[in-house]
Order: sequence, then C-alpha cells, then structure tokens
Amino acid sequence: LSTVDIIRAKRDGGTLTGEQIDWVVDAYTRGVVADEQMSALAMAILLNGMDAVETARWTRAMIDSGERLSLRTSRPTVDKHSTGGVGDKITLPLAPLVAACGAAVPQLSGRGLGYTGGTLDKLESISGWRAGLSTEEIARQLDEVGAVVCAATPNLAPADRKLYALRDVTGTVESVPLIASSIMSKKIAEGAGGLVLDVKVGAGAFMKTEADARALAAALVGIGREHGVPTTALLTDMSVPLGAAVGNAVEVAESVDVLKGGGPADVVELTMALAREMLSLTGLSTVDPAEVLASGRGYETWCRMIAAQGGDPDAPLPSARHVREVTAESDGVLTGLDAYAVGVAAWRLGAGRARKEDPVDHAAGVLCHAKPGDRVSAGQPLLELRTNNEDTLGGALAALNGGVTIGDAGAERAPLIIDTLR
Ligand code: URA
Repeated sequence: LSTVDIIRAKRDGGTLTGEQIDWVVDAYTRGVVADEQMSALAMAILLNGMDAVETARWTRAMIDSGERLSLRTSRPTVDKHSTGGVGDKITLPLAPLVAACGAAVPQLSGRGLGYTGGTLDKLESISGWRAGLSTEEIARQLDEVGAVVCAATPNLAPADRKLYALRDVTGTVESVPLIASSIMSKKIAEGAGGLVLDVKVGAGAFMKTEADARALAAALVGIGREHGVPTTALLTDMSVPLGAAVGNAVEVAESVDVLKGGGPADVVELTMALAREMLSLTGLSTVDPAEVLASGRGYETWCRMIAAQGGDPDAPLPSARHVREVTAESDGVLTGLDAYAVGVAAWRLGAGRARKEDPVDHAAGVLCHAKPGDRVSAGQPLLELRTNNEDTLGGALAALNGGVTIGDAGAERAPLIIDTLR
C-alpha cells in the first residue's frame, strides 16, 4: 500500500478501506510512515471527516498497536472518562465510591497539559502516592481494593500516544473522529466491561457548543457499541468551574470532603449521576451510591486506594506560600464565573503545565467562594488565588479580567446534566 495514495484518497473526500486504515496506523506506529505524512493524513481527516465504520476501524487499529489489559477480577469492571474541564475532580470521589458499591474501577489516567488539570497531578499532591503501577499491581489492587487510578502503561495504544503528540503540534486535535478514536482506543484497551463518558460543554471545555459535544458523545457511544463495550455518555455543563476548588491539592481536599459526606452540591450531584450510570452498566443498579456514601464506605475505600499506592491519606496536603483574594467590586448578584478564565488563572499560578516535561505546583490553584446566582456585596472575597511563586499572581489576575461579572438580576443557571446518550 502507498501512504501517498491513502493521503490523496482522504484529501479528495474518499472513504478509507479497513485494509488502508490497518496498514497506515500500524506503519506509523513502527516508524515506516513518517510524521509529515501522518500530519497530512490527520489534516485531511480533520477537513473531510471519517464515517462511523472508518472511525471504529481506526480505533481498532490503534488498540491493536499495543496490548489489551486482561483484568481478572471477581467484580464487574466499569470505567469513566471525562473530556476535561476546570475543577473536574470527579474521578477522585467517584472511583472509590463505585468500588465501595461492589464494582471494580480501573482508571488509567493522564497528566494535565494546558488549563484543564490532570487526575494524576492532583493525586500526586498526596505524600508518597505513586502513579506508575505494573500490570500485575493494577490487577492485584483492583481485586483487593476495587479501584485503581494510575498512569497508563506504556504499551496501551502506543499509536495514539504518538499520534496525539503529532496532532497537538499540527493543529489537528479538533477532529471528532480523531478525538473519539483517541479516547476510546485507550479505554477499550484497558479492558473495562463498561464505560461512562462525561462529555463537557462550554467555555471551560474542549467542546464549546452543545452541537459539537453531542457529535463527540454520539461518536464515542458508537465506537463503544461497535466494540461490544456498553457505553453511556452524559453531556454536562462546563461553563462554570465544577465545585469550588481548581488546582491539585485543593481538589483533593474537596474530593475528600465529598467522600466524608460534605462538599459542593454540584460535585456531589455529578458524582452520584455518574455512579448510577456506572452501576447500571455493571448490573448493580439496585445499589444506592448515596447510601454507600453516607455509610462512609466510599471514604474507607479512598483511604485503602491511596495507601495501596504508597500514599498517606492522613498526611497534610501542601499549602501555598502566597494567597491573594479577588473581591467583589459592587453589590449585586454574581452573573458569570467563566470556567476558562478560572482555568487559565489556576494554570498560570502553577497548577498546570505549558510543556509536558514541566513540573506542577501542587499547592497552586483557585478557590471560588461564590458561584453564579449567589448574592454578593462589595468587598466580599469571591476568589482566592494560591501559589508558591508570587510572580505568577499578576498573570493570573489578568486572566480573570472580564471573567467575573456582577449584575443586578439573578443569572439563569444552566442545568449541570444536560442530557444522557446511550
Ligand atoms: N483526549 C484524548 O485522549 N485524545 C484526544 O484526541 C483529545 C482529548
């Protein structure tokens, strides 16, 4: 097969055959197809799309570029994936809660790049906790604790690892079939029996419009169906940060609050909704996650999950040397708290990284003391910026410019859970 013929076929709006897809993905993984050729093909796919059959085949080829984990456990396995948002720490309370309900949750996660945080970065705020586990350690922990949140093993969909890095620098990330196949190849290779996807919509999300998010959700659910993995997608609002905490240690603290029966209402609502969907995919729909949470078993599982990976669940979390408050300029109602602005502010404070080799400041982040719809008075603290590097405060404040608005009428809050696609 000729790489140039495959590029030309997609450039001219054609449909790729299964044989062409298998060949080009495999040859790219082995270094036979060059980066510049794959860039051209990715751009042709971005411009001309791939249909459902091509997308499912592309996903299979990416799965087959590496190993599939076989997670032998006596419990039904189910996983969750979020397309990424600001303050999205839901995996932290969700994985131990669903495990406490009787399922096994293998969560192979990533680090953050850009303004949406990474689950592993958050957990690394906990003293001693380690993200890197062998396949055997993952299987053992899944059996003994029921929940594992760790780094993806290097041989899980290596084609995606290579292609995602290339898309990142060639303006070809924003393609629904490429995003959907990228996410699903990793999740299916991980071997979970069911998948619940949290597709975020709004300023702080990858997908800014509901139409785009719906298209991505439909593609994700379609790939799951083609591969025999029951998949449900929730469309959820990301125009406002989730919860009050945005960063690393601050998000761990908020997650622990939720597991102890407190925490912000939106974080609890989304955790419960996702838990119910996960339990329904595993045949455990008679278990009520709210009851399990109230019993403290979710928190107990959290402590065991953290300890199993070397972490001390009771250790104090890192705190920041510099704290700056942003106060309300006038009396009124908070009408807007832009998730993107808050995400960029937290990132500039050091919570996120600009290049993948950069370290993160685990203590850095933003605490939101008010949410849209809340009545505020002049001088009242709205946000708290935290960092270990005082020089970042100016840039963080600049990012928030225009992102916090006060008016005199109550703002209409969009529903958190917009729709469920099965
Ligand atoms: N997340 C992924 O894993 N892949 C993409 O292509 C985009 C977001």
